[in-house]
Amino acid sequence: MSVECFVTGGSGFVGQHLLARLTATGHKTWVLMRNPENIERLREQVGRLGGNPAYIHAVEGDISREGLGLSEADQQCVSSAAVVFHLAAQFTWGLTIEQARAVNVQGALRVARLAASQRIRLLMVGGYMLQNLTHLERIGIDNEHPENTNWPAVYARVGGYEGSKLESHFAVIRYMQDAGADYTIVHPATVCGHSESGHILEGQPLVGLIRNLALGRFKAVPGSARHWLPLVSVDYLVTMITCVAFDPSMANRQVLALYEHTPNLQGMLEQLAQTLEVKPPRRHIAIGLLKWLLTIPGLAARFAISAESLNFIQTQRFDMSNSKKLEQKYQLAHPDMSRTLENTVRYIMGYLPDRHAHSSEHPVGR
Ligand SMILES: NC(=O)c1ccc[n+]([C@@H]2O[C@H](COP(=O)([O-])OP(=O)(O)OC[C@H]3O[C@@H](n4cnc5c(N)ncnc54)[C@H](OP(=O)(O)O)[C@@H]3O)[C@@H](O)[C@H]2O)c1
Repeated sequence: MSVECFVTGGSGFVGQHLLARLTATGHKTWVLMRNPENIERLREQVGRLGGNPAYIHAVEGDISREGLGLSEADQQCVSSAAVVFHLAAQFTWGLTIEQARAVNVQGALRVARLAASQRIRLLMVGGYMLQNLTHLERIGIDNEHPENTNWPAVYARVGGYEGSKLESHFAVIRYMQDAGADYTIVHPATVCGHSESGHILEGQPLVGLIRNLALGRFKAVPGSARHWLPLVSVDYLVTMITCVAFDPSMANRQVLALYEHTPNLQGMLEQLAQTLEVKPPRRHIAIGLLKWLLTIPGLAARFAISAESLNFIQTQRFDMSNSKKLEQKYQLAHPDMSRTLENTVRYIMGYLPDRHAHSSEHPVGR
């Protein structure tokens, strides 16, 4: 059965693939856009990703504005949606606490308010670090009593992006519970390209990592042999998002979208290096030491790496039993990760030239 949907962050990487999936399955979709004049480009792009452009409609707005800045007419359109998909975020390193909070925390709460006031289910995209309870405890978050958290101290430890994703998660759950409203949360691992086309967008963490490897900037593997960067393909992720969004039994539940057999970081770098035809790093460097080195002026820029990104490389293993049950229920499987990584590398090297050069023609562009 097709229903209407409202999507924030539809122009982003995960958002484009979500729009493709929703519209290919017949859902009319309202997309919140800061720049609605870009709707035609977005429609074309979603068409190239396999979606149906005719089902995409823009509503002008910005989650950092009161009421998302929606006009009365657009509020009416949105109220006919069955699900609000909240993906919009400031996804970048080096944000100040104020910048990060204004969009990622206050913005998420505004979207939650809209969904709750219209009694529409909220599907929110979080992040897998929210399921790493050891990490949460280490950085000062009591998962059972998040209201006791000293948030500025957390931001100081993990940076604006991660701090705000963690804070918004707990703030939105609390808001939705107080309002007696329905939410579902999907926590993705680091997202890699589409398993077949390799499509990925500039600005994604994996693009930076692959480019650094191609340019010989990886002198050593951060962490030990136990460290890994959990991955998920964008196609698996959006399928999981749409399945749980329309599943009544997923009310007020959360799920991890993560490929548990992602190789350790060294193995992953070896696979990527093979496709790139470069030598992978062999030695290891402790993450604490690397973070310290990055405080030396000029070094972070020279190696194009941010200390904030290193928190996502960790040793935690996750309980995937819940995700596996859902995979069975929805008949969903992770695509082959080696092929997915290979295709992602080929897409980046073929179609995402360095950001100072002119972009070339590519089958599925931004
Ligand atoms: N990609 C990953 O590896 C990963 C992993 C875990 C979790 N996540 C989460 O998944 C979600 C989607 O990530 P992504 O990789 O698709 O991000 P992305 O490519 O950076 O896209 C971000 C989207 O948010 C929109 N946005 C930013 N500020 C906004 C504002 N003030 N008002 C309205 N829209 C705004 C952007 O719109 P414009 O086009 O106007 O800029 C864009 O559509 C985010 O919540 C992210 O935290 C991502």
